[in-house]
Order: sequence, then structure tokens, then C-alpha cells
Amino acid sequence: AAPAEIPAGIPKVELHVHLEGTATPELVRSLAARHGMSLPPDLFDRQGEFAWSDFLHFLKVYDDAAAVIRTDRDYRDVTYDYLRRCAAEGAVYVEVMSSPDHAAQGGLSFQGHLDGIVQGIEDAEADFGIQARLIVTCVRHFGVERGLEVARACTRHRHPVLTGFGMGGDENHLRAADFAGVFAIAHQEAGLACTVHAGETAGPESIRDALDNLPVRRIGHGVRAIEDAGLVSRIAEEGIVLEVCPTSNIRTAVYPDYAAHPLDRLRAAGCAVTLNSDDPPYFGTSIGHEYGVAKRHFGWSDDDLLTVTAVGLKAAFTDARRPLRQS
Ligand code: ADE
Ligand code: ZN
Repeated sequence: AAPAEIPAGIPKVELHVHLEGTATPELVRSLAARHGMSLPPDLFDRQGEFAWSDFLHFLKVYDDAAAVIRTDRDYRDVTYDYLRRCAAEGAVYVEVMSSPDHAAQGGLSFQGHLDGIVQGIEDAEADFGIQARLIVTCVRHFGVERGLEVARACTRHRHPVLTGFGMGGDENHLRAADFAGVFAIAHQEAGLACTVHAGETAGPESIRDALDNLPVRRIGHGVRAIEDAGLVSRIAEEGIVLEVCPTSNIRTAVYPDYAAHPLDRLRAAGCAVTLNSDDPPYFGTSIGHEYGVAKRHFGWSDDDLLTVTAVGLKAAFTDARRPLRQS
């Protein structure tokens, strides 16, 4: 489909985007050149886009591409480049998820990873007026031990920009409940607001598992709640905010097309929804494009778009960090 036009004059908010997944093929090539690294020959297709087939292959290609982000300067540049593009599309506030585990694969410390992202956020705010925060994420299929290390690191390395904690990765690996200890440290000891991917590649039981066991106010995706009417009511009643990523869901084949996507059914049932890009160059999208998709494929009015921006600002982890627990 032709890219949907980006609605002008609408301030946009993004709450769900993976920083490592924002690096364009061009930026990945330039970072590889910076470090004299050769890239896997099948990383790109003939059009020069990231080449992947199904969801698990996507996660693998994502890891291979992320391997070129190795230093605090690299993280600064990836962050700055993404926020520059967001600002050009009318975004005013963005929360980026980033994974210290991916940084560690390139030899970068938690502090170096954090410093780089903070610099990118500060430089982008100075140059483009856009505001941003960081959600540190662990990776579900890397296991509980690694998750505990990431959460513990969040208690030691504090910065006003670091306000959230989350988890991505393969949703069919382990259960949310297995990560209860990880999220307890992130939430209670590090004072971070929490979100978790659920109801993307697994069904409603995965969302229930998350809501029952983790201190989350938002769910990444959550769209497969639609398969369970009781769960949809619970999400609406408890005011859980869904970070919906429509184009991502179509590109990873959760739904065949926008007509089959439950965005509007969730909204009609009273669920708080936001619009997000997830991994923009992998899915051929951007935050502006997602607003355009809502308008063109879901028939949303400008008022609907302004409402979704307001929902996003209200659900933002802007100043969510609480003081350290006294012990
Ligand atoms: N990591 C990067 N993108 C992701 C997605 N859409 N789901 C789970 N983990 C991810
Ligand atoms: Zn995601």
C-alpha cells in the first residue's frame, strides 16, 4: 500500500518504539563503517531494506543490525537521528525503549549506554524542541537472570531521563509471572513505571499473566485482548493503556490487513489506546505514518487524533520516577 499521508498540524506522541529498531539501513551501514565491521550479507534485500521473513527471524535480524551500535557516541547518534525525524513529523514527546543487553553485546556498559541516550535526547531537545524519556528494557528470551541484572542496574544508575522499565522479545518464551521479581526491583526499588509486551504474538492469557503478576500500567500491543471480552472489560475498567502498533502487527502477520485489526473495536469498548511505530524502518512506518494510517484506514478525524495524543501524554512515564525507597 502507498504510505499514508502524515497529518499536518497534529502534535504527535509516541510511547512504544525500540531505539535499536529505529536505526535505518543507512545509519546501520554508516555505524558499521565507523567500526570497520562487515555486516551479514543477507541483512538487506535488493531494495536495501532490512530482510526478514517471520517474527522470530525479525528478532534475529534486529539483533544483527543492533550489533553495530557499540559506543556511547553511537547511541547518542541513533537517538538524535530518530528524534530529529520524529520532530520533523510533528512529534512533541517520545519514549524510547532501549536494551542494555544489546549494548553489552557490543561491549558497552550500562552507564555508557545511558550516557549516550541522554546526550542524544538533550541534543535533540536543544535543536528541535522535542522531549523524550527512556524506558530501559530487558529481553524476555534472554531469561530471568539477565532481566534481574538489568533491573538491578536501574537501581544504581539514575537519571531524570530514565523513567520507565519494560520487556520485549519472544512473548512465547517463559511466562510474565517468571519476571515478577525483575519488575518488583524495577518498580519498587528503582522507582520506575512499567510496561510489558503482551498480546502481540501470544493470546489473551499472556495479557492476563502480565496484569496479574507485574506492576504495569500499560501493555505493549495488547491487541489480542480482543479475543476475550472479559479481558477487554477489565482493561477498560482498570484504565490500562494499550500501546498499539497497527502497521507492525500487519507486517509481522498478527493480522492480515488494517480491516482485520482490532484498534477500533478496542477503542469502542472503552480501552485507552495510543498509536506507535515499534520498529519503524523494519515495518516501513514512522509515528507520523501511524497517525496517517488511523486517518486513512480507520477513518479517524483530526479530533480523534488529538484525543489519542492526549491519551498518550496522560499515560506518559514523564516524571514517573519516585524517590528511592528508604531502607
Ligand atoms: N523487540 C523489538 N521489536 C519487538 C516487538 N515488536 N515485539 C517484541 N520484541 C521486540
Ligand atoms: Zn515493541
